[in-house]
Amino acid sequence: MTDSFQFSSLPKIIFGPGKRNELAAELSSRGNKVLLLTGSSSVHNSGHGDEIITALKTANLELKHEVIAHEPSPSLIDQIVEKYRPSGIQVIVAVGGGSVMDAGKAISAMIPVDGSIRDYLEGVGEKKHPGDKIPFIAMPTTSGTGSEMTKNAVISEVGEKGFKKSLRHENFIPEVAIIDPEMMLSCPAKLTAASGMDAFTQLLESYLSTKANPMTDALALQGLKQIKKYLLRAFLEGEQNMEARSGMALAAMFSGITLAHAGLGLVHGFASPLGGFYYIPHGVACGSLMAPVFATTIDNLQDQPEHPAIKKLIIISKVFADFKYKQDMEYLHAFKEKLIHITTLLEVPMLSEFGLKEEGIQKIVDCTSHKNHPVRLTNDQLINALQLRI
Ligand SMILES: [Fe+2]
Repeated sequence: MTDSFQFSSLPKIIFGPGKRNELAAELSSRGNKVLLLTGSSSVHNSGHGDEIITALKTANLELKHEVIAHEPSPSLIDQIVEKYRPSGIQVIVAVGGGSVMDAGKAISAMIPVDGSIRDYLEGVGEKKHPGDKIPFIAMPTTSGTGSEMTKNAVISEVGEKGFKKSLRHENFIPEVAIIDPEMMLSCPAKLTAASGMDAFTQLLESYLSTKANPMTDALALQGLKQIKKYLLRAFLEGEQNMEARSGMALAAMFSGITLAHAGLGLVHGFASPLGGFYYIPHGVACGSLMAPVFATTIDNLQDQPEHPAIKKLIIISKVFADFKYKQDMEYLHAFKEKLIHITTLLEVPMLSEFGLKEEGIQKIVDCTSHKNHPVRLTNDQLINALQLRI
C-alpha cells in the first residue's frame, strides 16, 4: 500500500533551448522595475548576459543590475536589500548558478520585511518569516543545485564560527523557472563537474531518503538515468553537446524537486559544516564525499535484503552498471567502484585542497547531520569517509 504524502506547488517551468527569449515577457507581466542578478563571469563571457540586458532594455523595463560573485553571505544580502528596499523594485530575476539563484530568492524575500536576514535564518535567528516577497524568476546557467525549483535559499558565513543555513518558506518557490540548456553550453568543465555531482548527490539522496514518496521516487529515478547518460558527456563535450546539456538541465531540475519534497542525506549533512568552515564549493564537497559515503552506506545495509534502501540501491546499481552480473551483490560492488571512477574522471578535487586536515576532521563530524539518510554511520565510519578525501 502507498503511504500518504503531500506534494507542494512548483514554479511555472519554461524548459528548452532558446527559452531565455521569454524572460522579458515574463518580467513585464509582473512589473516594470526589475532587479537583475548575475554571476561574476560565465554568463557574461558567453555573451548571454549582454544579450539578456539588451532584450530587457528593449522591452522598456527599468533595469537595475547586481553581480553575485560568491556563495551569498548574510552581509552581502543585507547590503543589497538595504540598497533596494526604498527603490520600489517589482520583480527580481537571477541568471546564474546556485549562488546567484539563492541570492535572488533571499533578496526577494527580505525586501518586504525589516531587519537582517540573520534574524530569519533557520538555526541562526529567532524570527519567523511571514512569507511576503517580491516575485522572483530563476534562470539557471549551471546544472546543479536545482535552486530554481526549491523554497529555500542557502546562505553561508565562512570561518571559525561559520555556517550554511537556509531561509525557507513555501512562498519562496520561484514564480517562474526558465531553463534554457543553451545557457549552459559555456559553463566551464570544472563547474559542470561540481554542479553535476551536486545534482547526482541530490537525486540519489532524495531517492534513498526516509521521506521519499512515489512522486519523488519517479523523478529521482528518471533524473539518475539522465545522470548516467549525460554527466560525463556534459563534462567532456559541454561546449557543443546540447543533448548532454539538456539531459543534465533536466536532471538538476528534477533534483531540486525531489530534494524539496523528500529531503537529503549524509553527504549534504557533511557539506553544511564543510562549507561553513572552509571555502569549499558546495558541489565539490558533495562530489568528493559521494563515493566514500555510499560505499559505507551499502556496506551497512547489504545484510538487510528487505531494507527499502538496499532494494533501491540495487535498482540504481543496475542503472549505472556497464556489464551484466548474476548477483545483486555484484551490482552493488560495481556501483561502489563506479562512484570512485566517476569522481576520478570528473577530476573532483580532494577536500585537503581547500584546507581540511586530519586535525579538523572531528569538528566536521561533530557538526554533521545524517538528515534523512537511510542508515546511520558510526563515528569511525564518518571519520574514515573524510580521511579518504584528504
Ligand atoms: Fe546540493
